[in-house]
Amino acid sequence: SRVVKLAVIPGDGIGPEVVAEAEKVLDAAVAGTDVVIDKTRFSLGAARYLETGDTLTDEDLRAIADHDAILLGAVGGVPGDPRLRDANIERGLLLKLRFELDHYVNLRPSKLYPSVPGPLAEPGEIDFVVVREGTEGPYVGNGGSIRRGTPHEVANETSVNTAFGVERVVRYAFDLAERRRQKLTLVHKTNVLVHAGGIWKRIVDEVAAEHPDVAVDYLHVDAATIFLVTNPGRFDVIVTDNLFGDILTDLAGAVTGGIGLAASGNINPDGAFPSMFEPVHGSAPDIAGQQKADPTAAILSVSLLLDHLGLTEAARRVTHAVEADIADRSSEPRTTTQIGDAIAARLQA
Ligand code: NAD
Ligand code: IPM
Ligand code: MN
Repeated sequence: SRVVKLAVIPGDGIGPEVVAEAEKVLDAAVAGTDVVIDKTRFSLGAARYLETGDTLTDEDLRAIADHDAILLGAVGGVPGDPRLRDANIERGLLLKLRFELDHYVNLRPSKLYPSVPGPLAEPGEIDFVVVREGTEGPYVGNGGSIRRGTPHEVANETSVNTAFGVERVVRYAFDLAERRRQKLTLVHKTNVLVHAGGIWKRIVDEVAAEHPDVAVDYLHVDAATIFLVTNPGRFDVIVTDNLFGDILTDLAGAVTGGIGLAASGNINPDGAFPSMFEPVHGSAPDIAGQQKADPTAAILSVSLLLDHLGLTEAARRVTHAVEADIADRSSEPRTTTQIGDAIAARLQA
């Protein structure tokens, strides 16, 4: 049998609710195969911080790194909670994991499933993947402020873009485009961010020369938000920096039927570190503890996880079970658990 060591980080808010359903579906997907999922649960997030004062210790990090993959729900408390101001769970936990485990590809597929009620009147076919850079850009934290709290305060936030970091994610995006519909769109803001935009544009042009089959397109990020709503069918692979990718993928989730369906993988393609799979959404404090969260994004993240581990058949079965469930959805509301049960049941059938 093949043993997969899986680190599970349920996190805060709806995180534990959606992860419970994702685990249920994962178990059903491997049942009867020779794959054994050996899970270790890590209690991390705002709740742990409030209890112990720890966000992510070196020991936690080492223990998590010693796994084949990570499944994460969501971390973070109520935005603006003063007790969490000094903790910065997002930086100290989520971004620390992405940076330390070198998750340089943040893979965020967007697909409009037939019969999903989206906000667009005539959506057409939507099936694209955002390849969001995961370890650089404005997320690095290479900023600072002086004269804090005075009328002369100066606050800087620097975007870090290295030739090494941009090239490796751009190469990944081109390889993905080759395997899809051979179309790649770079999204940036080269008209204003001339230094950061310049390096992205030049590297995309260089790598494009090695991929004559891939049609390359460029959009400024503001225009990209227009086309994501008016003509999302034009996109196949979008490659972009960490911050633009964050914003575009919440929008992409909204146009394809809601953030409750949007899955993601934080990938270390080299395999030096475990990759981490999580829904695009956050801990949703506004609906936490009420069984109102849609666990589909977490469940589709399990499909990405299985695919990454080379368990392609199990991944395909999870996606099919989700597609079948979505096709059958009525306007009757279901609880988080009911959705998870229904999808798991399709895998057992
Ligand atoms: P959010 O994604 O948590 O919520 C935005 C809106 O979407 C809310 O109305 C919420 O109810 C709804 N929503 C989210 N997931 C849903 C689901 N599965 N089903 C149905 N509705 C869903 O974003 P936010 O409110 O900006 O952030 C809340 C907290 O989560 C913050 O602390 C933030 O930093 C954190 N966060 C964490 C992650 C992560 O762990 N990967 C991602 C984003 C935000
Ligand atoms: C996401 C989240 C995170 C991000 C935050 C919580 C740090 O919004 O995963 O999209 O900005 O990457
Ligand atoms: Mn986000």
